Amino acid sequence: MNPSSIGIIKSTAPLIKEKGFEITMRMYEIAFSERPEYRRFFVNTWMSAPEAAKSQAERLASAIYLYAANIDNLGKLDGPVQHIAKAHVATNIVAENYVVIGECLIAAIKDVLGDTATPEVLAAWTEAYFNLADIFISVEKDLYKKEDEGLFDIKKAYVG
Ligand code: HEM
Repeated sequence: MNPSSIGIIKSTAPLIKEKGFEITMRMYEIAFSERPEYRRFFVNTWMSAPEAAKSQAERLASAIYLYAANIDNLGKLDGPVQHIAKAHVATNIVAENYVVIGECLIAAIKDVLGDTATPEVLAAWTEAYFNLADIFISVEKDLYKKEDEGLFDIKKAYVG
């Protein structure tokens, strides 16, 4: 990632922590209004019960903050990335879905942060999101491949 983007991510991390839940709730609102069929991916959360949906927004907000706080030390994220990737494989998420969710997340950051979300801040978060998305896409491709080869069973590896 561009060093100036890393600086922006680190300096906006506390704000993202403070407003994280509001941002992710807004993100799901935008996503489900633009792509109502995306709700169906969230079998254990949005399709299940309001409390579970809220918990999903909280988990996503925590994950985004954890990423921002460790943007210059990504090795620390290996454990959480493996866990989240299994949640994604269990719900059949593929690379294309990251583009849709990324656009909704940036729109939500813009809505919630208002004037603080300058073009530079939004550009840095867009770069950071797609950097993280690439990490997930690669780990998930590997899990799908292992599953196809009979070396891995997501039903045993992840219980929603
Ligand atoms: C960088 C981007 C993303 C991050 C940081 C992220 C983070 C998370 C986290 C923290 C969880 C909860 C895992 C658990 O506690 O078991 C999760 C689950 C999930 N995520 Fe993501 N996610 C991302 C992208 C996506 C995308 C693009 C989709 C596509 C729709 C998606 C759909 C889901 C679904 C369906 C679940 C499981 C919810 C359920 O079982 O109801 N995520 N994600």
